[in-house]
Amino acid sequence: MSTHGKNRPPGFQTRAIHHGYDPRKLLGAVAPPIFMTSTYSFEGVEDAAAVMSHEREGYLYGRTANPTQALLEARLANLEGAEACVAVASGMAAVGSLMLSLLSQDDEIVVHRTLYSNTYSLTRQALPRFGIKVVPIDLTDPSRLDGAITKKTKLIYFETPGNPSSEVIDIAAVAARARNSGARIVVDSTFASPYVQRPLEHGAHLVLHSLTKYINGHGDLLAGAVLGDAATIDRIRSNGLNFITGATLSPMAAFLIMRGMKTLKLRMKQHAESAQAVAEMLAAHPAVAWVRYPFLPGSRDYEVARRQMISGSAMMSFGLKAGYAGAVAMMDRLQLISRAVSLGDAESLIMHPASLIRARQKFYPETRMAEGVTDDLIRLSIGLEETDDLLDDITQALAGA
Ligand SMILES: Cc1ncc(COP(=O)(O)O)c(C=O)c1O
Repeated sequence: MSTHGKNRPPGFQTRAIHHGYDPRKLLGAVAPPIFMTSTYSFEGVEDAAAVMSHEREGYLYGRTANPTQALLEARLANLEGAEACVAVASGMAAVGSLMLSLLSQDDEIVVHRTLYSNTYSLTRQALPRFGIKVVPIDLTDPSRLDGAITKKTKLIYFETPGNPSSEVIDIAAVAARARNSGARIVVDSTFASPYVQRPLEHGAHLVLHSLTKYINGHGDLLAGAVLGDAATIDRIRSNGLNFITGATLSPMAAFLIMRGMKTLKLRMKQHAESAQAVAEMLAAHPAVAWVRYPFLPGSRDYEVARRQMISGSAMMSFGLKAGYAGAVAMMDRLQLISRAVSLGDAESLIMHPASLIRARQKFYPETRMAEGVTDDLIRLSIGLEETDDLLDDITQALAGA
């Protein structure tokens, strides 16, 4: 695709709408059709064998590939600057399919000490059961890698910005330290989206997204993706997706994600504009003890964030001087912002990890709060409502704090 008469490739927003699809090839349908089929038929047995052996392009069975899913994957790969993409049924399906495809018994994985709660549980509770050694370190100081990487290290895994704290990890600095080690760097870039941050440009080998969040953007489905070089993505699809997790994305969900992606850049700009205003208001508020937002001037993340992100996205964490009890009381006073897990939706969402983890421990005593997450931490996902309405709601909720 090139822009009419100009010798330059089309920009992000144009690719998010058009990449990989030509309506002339499908009856002129401007919106890509949804291929609701689980299987595909063949002229003869030889044709099926040719598709199976990759001699001919085509589809065999819906668990590993579907044309609607393939269009989404091509578009996502283009926006992320990756050779290939595999889309799956949730962000956790992406994490699981990736780790169980690329790690074996006796391998080691270095992880940042703070991770999304279920990725944290996967690395602390599940991977060790399969004989995989997990080495947690604080990657906000990339020099810690020097003592952590061994000949057995296959993956270095982190989120930036991180869940739930929004702390920023310097992708290029991690890549520089890990160069020559043979370990592959995997970045969960869910908090940023490919409009705000493209980790492959900074030296990461693989990128992971929960598409449930900004990329779909409308809070109405779950999905995930892994992006990177074609050989690794093929391995994740043909092993992880096909016979380990079987976590296939439905064609309907793939279509809805592409619909959401058409406005990704517009949404991310508005998200960031409001989030910047909210973060600055919180930082100046007398009831607030601390705020973490990547683009907060003077903050410890600011310099790195400006090198690898276009904006601060719209995730932040903060704590009140009134601590755990103050967080609960303040959140219960909110009228516009929803008390809900998840993030990246049009609706602003707020959650308090410590109270949810305590509740979960009643049924699952082995549950642990990720290291680095404090009892007072409140996670806020700024949505697309009017900025002034959001500021008003937070200000009235803080008034009693
Ligand atoms: C950073 C991050 N990675 C992965 C996931 C898992 O995604 P999903 O909920 O789509 O399974 C989440 C979910 O909140 C997340 O925040």
